[in-house]
Amino acid sequence: MRTHYCGQLNRELIGQTVTLCGWAHRRRDHGGVIFIDLRDREGMAQIVIDPDTPEAFKLAESVRNEFVLKVVCKVRARPEGTVNLNIPTGEVEMLATEIEILNPSLTPPFMLDDDNLSEMVRLEHRYIDLRRPTMQKNLKLRYRVAKTLRDHLDSNGFMEIETPMLTRSTPEGARDYLVPSRVHHGQFFALPQSPQLFKQLLMVSGFDRYFQITKCFRDEDLRADRQPEFTQVDIETSFLGEEEIMQLVEDMIRKMFKDVQDIDLPNPFPRMPFSEAMSRYGSDKPDMRVTLEITELTDVMKDVDFKVFSGAANAADGRVAALRVPGGATISRSEIDAYTEFAKIYGAKGLAYIKINDTSKLNEEGLQSPIVKNIHETALKAIIERTGAQNGDIVFFGADKTKIVNEALGALRSKVGHEKGHVDGRGWAPLWVVDFPMFEHDAENDRWVALHHPFTAPKEGHEDLLVSNPGAALSKAYDMVLNGWEVGGGSVRIHKQEVQSKVFDALKISKEEAQEKFGFLLDALQYGAPPHGGLAFGLDRLVTLMAGAESIRDVIAFPKTQRAQCLMTKAPNEVDEKQLRELHIRVRQQNPVA
Ligand code: AMO
Ligand code: AMP
Repeated sequence: MRTHYCGQLNRELIGQTVTLCGWAHRRRDHGGVIFIDLRDREGMAQIVIDPDTPEAFKLAESVRNEFVLKVVCKVRARPEGTVNLNIPTGEVEMLATEIEILNPSLTPPFMLDDDNLSEMVRLEHRYIDLRRPTMQKNLKLRYRVAKTLRDHLDSNGFMEIETPMLTRSTPEGARDYLVPSRVHHGQFFALPQSPQLFKQLLMVSGFDRYFQITKCFRDEDLRADRQPEFTQVDIETSFLGEEEIMQLVEDMIRKMFKDVQDIDLPNPFPRMPFSEAMSRYGSDKPDMRVTLEITELTDVMKDVDFKVFSGAANAADGRVAALRVPGGATISRSEIDAYTEFAKIYGAKGLAYIKINDTSKLNEEGLQSPIVKNIHETALKAIIERTGAQNGDIVFFGADKTKIVNEALGALRSKVGHEKGHVDGRGWAPLWVVDFPMFEHDAENDRWVALHHPFTAPKEGHEDLLVSNPGAALSKAYDMVLNGWEVGGGSVRIHKQEVQSKVFDALKISKEEAQEKFGFLLDALQYGAPPHGGLAFGLDRLVTLMAGAESIRDVIAFPKTQRAQCLMTKAPNEVDEKQLRELHIRVRQQNPVA
């Protein structure tokens, strides 16, 4: 039907007759002349319809927003004074000779160029929302990122292999989405949280370099950077160590940023041990553009009168730490209250602070804060010296279980850093976080849980620690962090059955349970499993960062809401009783009595 896309028209076509197909973005009547901005996926073209073509003119009068049109027109230069160099087609306009309305449209539920749309409305009518130029741009970018990564992997000898969607639960730490089996009464498939086990088995099968761009499913609490179904660029290799795998994927990401967006990422990416990331930034995915740091104070707070501090300082897994914000003494009372509420989201019970008036006066005059009278001089001195506080600063404090202090101050560091301009001006700050512990202690159930997943290999020389001191064992895991987002993570895997058993022992997974859940993997490890390892990138997150979008929902065509629903199709939904019966399922009453 069409000869050109609207967005492709330019000076060089002046004098030619073209046929365009697209949507009426806007129609304007300028006494005698009608203008229609015709839009398609490549851009916008200005169509002019004058009364000299009465048939076209009559039709144009009936055109409303979002009608689908086919227009035959002649390209001509825009008259002097109406040239618009802000848009690619702004030097030309199209004089219509024929118009055909291919399909009218109801009045759309919102204007496409309304910048203050509620996301609910956008998601409910996503097919219209996706017509907006930003969304078209985001999805194009997503396609180009995926294509570039796929091409890169292909030219480096990687082969894409599909793995099942109907499978068993994989332990990536989230809840599973379950699919009931009709054939096997009372049994369920799980949708994969990742292709982890299958890609390891493919290494045992000798495929050597595997990748897959694939959907993963996790039923977890949703945030701006999480969706229940999301896409991984999943990679696994044989015979490569940590160094080589990290090098390989780092090169791939650097090249992709260059090719797709002409962005130069540093070479090499800096690296930081997990323990340092936690103590200095309170996070295993620190935003390195933020210049603020967290200061350790646990050791000097053990005998202060302020019980909140001394209590945490003396607790086995407690921490007292500070976040200094240069020039922050001007932060208002209500802002501090808002920051306190923010810290509470992460479990903090409060957010003590000191406004530094005069560092030479270690009393309530020099250090403005209700807590100062209950902190002795040695500790006050330590606060000033260690944080490097200057007159005019504010110092915030966290005192609680280490995990809570880290999460609260870590999140506050990013928030205050960006809000108050404590950033170094770099656009892109990638980081490898390395030397992760093998295990994390789950206080509630008093047991060790795998920090990455239970197939991650311990660091050289740390195998014995798996038994003697699990908390001290480090792993061969690595996460790629970009501007405070974890964009990818992986590890070298255990390829020996004895080591895998030791890890299951440390996790208190019994032989029977291990055999029942991962027997196929344990068996496979005994049939000539090569050393192997890999990683997975979150494609949605990479694209979100590159697009400068706020949420991964903006780079997914049909995402779920924060409440894990699709507002457009109204999924999830109730199903017929008949369907349930076939699946041997009966829905329980809501809120059943426990
Ligand atoms: P991991 O669980 O770290 O590792 O996941 C890899 C990457 O996937 C992205 N990601 C998500 N993106 C959007 N929504 C989610 N709910 C979500 N969850 C994770 C993140 C993360 O870095 N099998 C291992 C990889 C491996 O060891 O090779 C795995 O799945 O960007
Ligand atoms: P309170 O003695 O409870 O009135 O608290 C005094 C100050 O300490 C207030 O600014 C609280 O916000 C703060 N605070 C209370 N608990 C904590 C905590 N666990 N960590 C950091 N600050 C806290």
